[in-house]
Amino acid sequence: MAVKGIYQFPPGFLWGCATAAHQVEGQNTNNWSRWEATPGHIFGNHTAQHACEWWSGRFEGDFDLAADMHNNAQRISIEWSRLEPEPGTWDTHALDRYRQMVRGLTLRGMMPMLTLHHFTLPLWADDRGAWLWDDLPEHFARFAGKVAAALGDLCTLWCTLNEPTVVSTNGYLLGAWTPGQKSMAAAARANVNMLRAHAMAYRAIKAAQPQAQVGLAGHRIGIRAQAPAFINRIPMRVMDHYFNNAFMLALRDGEAHFTGGKRVRLPEVKNTLDWVGLQYYFEYKAYFSPRSPGTLFITYGKSPAMHAVTPPKWGDLNPDGTFEHIRWLSRELRVPIYVTEAGVPDPDDTLRPGYLAEAVRAVWKAVNYNYPVRGFFFWSLLDNFEWAEGYDPRYNFGLYKVDFESQSRTARPSAHLYGEICAKNGLAADSVAKYAPSVLPRLFPGEVVQEQVRLRPR
Ligand code: BGC
Repeated sequence: MAVKGIYQFPPGFLWGCATAAHQVEGQNTNNWSRWEATPGHIFGNHTAQHACEWWSGRFEGDFDLAADMHNNAQRISIEWSRLEPEPGTWDTHALDRYRQMVRGLTLRGMMPMLTLHHFTLPLWADDRGAWLWDDLPEHFARFAGKVAAALGDLCTLWCTLNEPTVVSTNGYLLGAWTPGQKSMAAAARANVNMLRAHAMAYRAIKAAQPQAQVGLAGHRIGIRAQAPAFINRIPMRVMDHYFNNAFMLALRDGEAHFTGGKRVRLPEVKNTLDWVGLQYYFEYKAYFSPRSPGTLFITYGKSPAMHAVTPPKWGDLNPDGTFEHIRWLSRELRVPIYVTEAGVPDPDDTLRPGYLAEAVRAVWKAVNYNYPVRGFFFWSLLDNFEWAEGYDPRYNFGLYKVDFESQSRTARPSAHLYGEICAKNGLAADSVAKYAPSVLPRLFPGEVVQEQVRLRPR
């Protein structure tokens, strides 16, 4: 007897994958390609020069793969440095190319979600201080308005910024990414400029396309207090505020208060979210560390047992945690939610099918609690250039494996699982039994009991 249970989603729910221009296109000249040129910045001194070769045409075949998985939506990003290589100079060929790409999605039955800033900036913006340049928001808004006017007949779902707090933390506080700054004050200022950039872009897009749905995608980490909890609860709260909440609360309240920065009134950023994106991957344990004065003596790490499971720059896996982040966003912001990224680094696909199934179940639970979740985008369609980790296979996120030498793509088992989820608009027990049997007892305990009853000798 086949197992029959299903976590069914409402009609019209969006299922897709997410990618970012710099990670898949190749041939970009921007602040990241500049950063990659310095030995030591990227694992193996890799560069995104080739990546997945979308710019030279491979996006077509990859969009076919997404359509084969029954995706009805796709989140891609537009590379600002291509469209505006010099301030005020617009490259119409590049714009036409993006038109072709976005049209490629709609022709395959996928609703596009277009991200306008996924970590990269034009060189001229980098030269003027990147996110510390107070005029950058205005330039960004002009770019956003231009794109919305040019592609607005094909797309209504816009994501202004991808993970602003990851940009400010990695680039301005920890110095691990471009521009390599290590200062709390710089990180706070970058955050304020990104808030302003989002709000100005929101208005520019709405002016070009009144029916546009504009939001941004925020990264959230599950943060727990390391034992003994009574000492580490304060670090946990500070980290939670800093990484997860401060940016979103500023959008809600029109007032920014980032750790290490002054309280800044920003009334213009209020009411500039039509939706919000959740990007949740893992959890960390927060604790006091006398060796970390630069981060207020706070640091973080993963559980010892997880060292054998996830690569060094990754935390504890808890896909169920997706539910609590959806709840927080819904309660605090009261706008529709898309899960704009979820995924796991896993070259052998041993963790991904179970992770995917559990994350989808957590989203289903949220939908059934009437939290307004409208779609799910898996990170990522295919292996790609993973920022400071380059092409280190330990950080392969793709449903499709990419051989970067031959540029061949091979479906991992989780691509088949995701295909079944999207086709059924739900997570079925037989899909879980086939691709992620280890999580079947947790997700479908009744089905397992049935199987045991059936197998019991008479
Ligand atoms: C980013 C992606 C990145 C992924 C995996 C997200 O934080 O938006 O660009 O590749 O995580 O690390």
